[in-house]
Amino acid sequence: MYHCIKTLVRNVTTATIRHMRPADLAEVTSLTEKESWNLSQEVVRTLYEYCPEGSFIAELQGKVVGAIMGFNMNEEESFGGMWVVSKQHRGQRIGTMLLQRIKEHIGDRNIGIFSVAESVEAHKRFGFTVESWKICHVSGIIATEKIKLAEDCMVHVCAFPSRHVQFDDLFQYDTKIHSVERERFLRVWTQGKSTITLVAIGRTGEIVGYGVIKRDSNDTVVGPIYGETPSVMKTLLVSLISKTTFGENINMSVPVESEILQELLVENKSTLKVLSEETRMFFHHEVKAPLEKIFAIASSEAGHC
Ligand SMILES: CC(C)(COP(=O)(O)OP(=O)(O)OC[C@H]1O[C@@H](n2cnc3c(N)ncnc32)[C@H](O)[C@@H]1OP(=O)(O)O)[C@@H](O)C(=O)NCCC(=O)NCCS
Repeated sequence: MYHCIKTLVRNVTTATIRHMRPADLAEVTSLTEKESWNLSQEVVRTLYEYCPEGSFIAELQGKVVGAIMGFNMNEEESFGGMWVVSKQHRGQRIGTMLLQRIKEHIGDRNIGIFSVAESVEAHKRFGFTVESWKICHVSGIIATEKIKLAEDCMVHVCAFPSRHVQFDDLFQYDTKIHSVERERFLRVWTQGKSTITLVAIGRTGEIVGYGVIKRDSNDTVVGPIYGETPSVMKTLLVSLISKTTFGENINMSVPVESEILQELLVENKSTLKVLSEETRMFFHHEVKAPLEKIFAIASSEAGHC
């Protein structure tokens, strides 16, 4: 009898931490939806496929009550995200158990995160010594006809992959921006049935930017958009939005300092809103990125920029 009660109490209060499986993705997406992260099941699935060995869940009585992901990018650098516990199970150390599992996974690597505004001080206490730039999550409808494009922007936008752009070309360009090679991430992020990737090609045939849009029945997510100049980034944004239906809601994570963002917010003030802000933080050292070439990051759950 005593044993039965003890087992019952343990089952009610103790979650099991285990690797995420494809069958968990719907429940994980539902946890992120309750936080209004607007990730879409497609994005959650893509992140899982990028790194199943770094994706963990907390399970309690057969239900997913928490999740976390950690991506080892090389021997020195890693990135963490998707740290969430369902509201009714918070404060029971489940978050700490998930965090501990990720710490074991990343080892001694430097780790980057995007921290929600109210947690920046807590993360500093946890040892995230470096506070870097901020992004904001914007959501809404963007009227592309109001975007001012420079007339002298001589770029040709083409689909990826195509005979004009091979994977290695895109990978090389991405590494110039991101500085840490992320071949595995690019392979899953830039392709897939609900994904369109567009590449901007300059006058002499070189890549000068690229952008990605992911759409499923619930959400449309645009990111990253990288480009050598603001004109290239705006051209990519217009081309990506032209792939959606009229009046479609777009979700993006954009550096708060972006001048293009300010222009979009002014021109679309009744339809486009800033939902929340996050701060890029690192444990040991900052991973530099050329902010002036970044209009939107892929996802604050997936990488430094
Ligand atoms: C953050 C979160 C996963 C913690 O889960 P939890 O199971 O409640 O955490 P625990 O009970 O293990 O508490 C862990 C510690 O994290 C702290 N904490 C709580 N919320 C936090 C947050 N949003 N960011 C950082 N730390 C947080 C707690 O105060 C506690 O600190 P202590 O050890 O000094 O007491 C949970 O609050 C959550 O899902 N929040 C919403 C999503 C979110 O903000 N995720 C973090 C994105 S950066």
